Amino acid sequence: METAKKRAIVVDKIQEIKSTNSFLKQICEQFPHFYTLRAVNQTAGRGRFSRQWISAPGDDLTFSTVIHVSDELQKWLVNIPQITALGIQELLLSMGVKSLIKWPNDILVETKKIAGILVEGVYKNNKQYLIVGVGLNVNSMPQEKVDIPATSILDQTGKKNDPDELLQKFVDIFSSKIETLSENGFAQFKNPLNLLLAFKNEIREVVIHDSVIRGELVGVGDDGGLLLKTEDGAVKSLISGEISFKK
Ligand code: BTN
Repeated sequence: METAKKRAIVVDKIQEIKSTNSFLKQICEQFPHFYTLRAVNQTAGRGRFSRQWISAPGDDLTFSTVIHVSDELQKWLVNIPQITALGIQELLLSMGVKSLIKWPNDILVETKKIAGILVEGVYKNNKQYLIVGVGLNVNSMPQEKVDIPATSILDQTGKKNDPDELLQKFVDIFSSKIETLSENGFAQFKNPLNLLLAFKNEIREVVIHDSVIRGELVGVGDDGGLLLKTEDGAVKSLISGEISFKK
């Protein structure tokens, strides 16, 4: 593993691993808060809902960050995917790529997916850890998939980028957002999230476990929940779920 240190945050790189999330979940207590591991080639990357995450070895970013959950951060755990998404959105904007957040944790350029987030929690010896995994399409030229169209930074800008440099930039942005969340809570992230909400004011299906709710995506509430206006005019606040790509 190669190690680079900045502001006491360790960013490591491993050539090949099945999944950075799975690896760190097993031994997260051995790593410091914010330890980040990038896999150049992730051979069994996992997405949400047991999906696969496929990336181009060396070209794209696949990494995970270990977060030691403090008492302060504990209150805001439900918001971590959204804060991670805001961090990726900010990184992309600095590369000239305007993106939107498909609540709670997909990043889209128009309707094409450019990044996904998988947050997993672990308890060890009465301590709680989060593994925040991110897959970001950087230098690959994604094939159009039948169900979910994809894009990359290269696809959007025509320029190749150094994945390690992008990761360092992201870690700086992300760590400062997590500090803010921990100290001040979610309030200041609500407006940015509302402005960046994909499919806002559109009618969509949201899948929650085994059920589906259809309604208009009216925004994000004070706690970061998705506000969905159903046919009968009621506004429901959802704390988890997945918005369907299809109308
Ligand atoms: C999704 O869109 O469903 C989430 C994708 C998350 C993929 C990343 S890649 C690094 C980390 N390791 C994994 O196995 N998954 C996450």
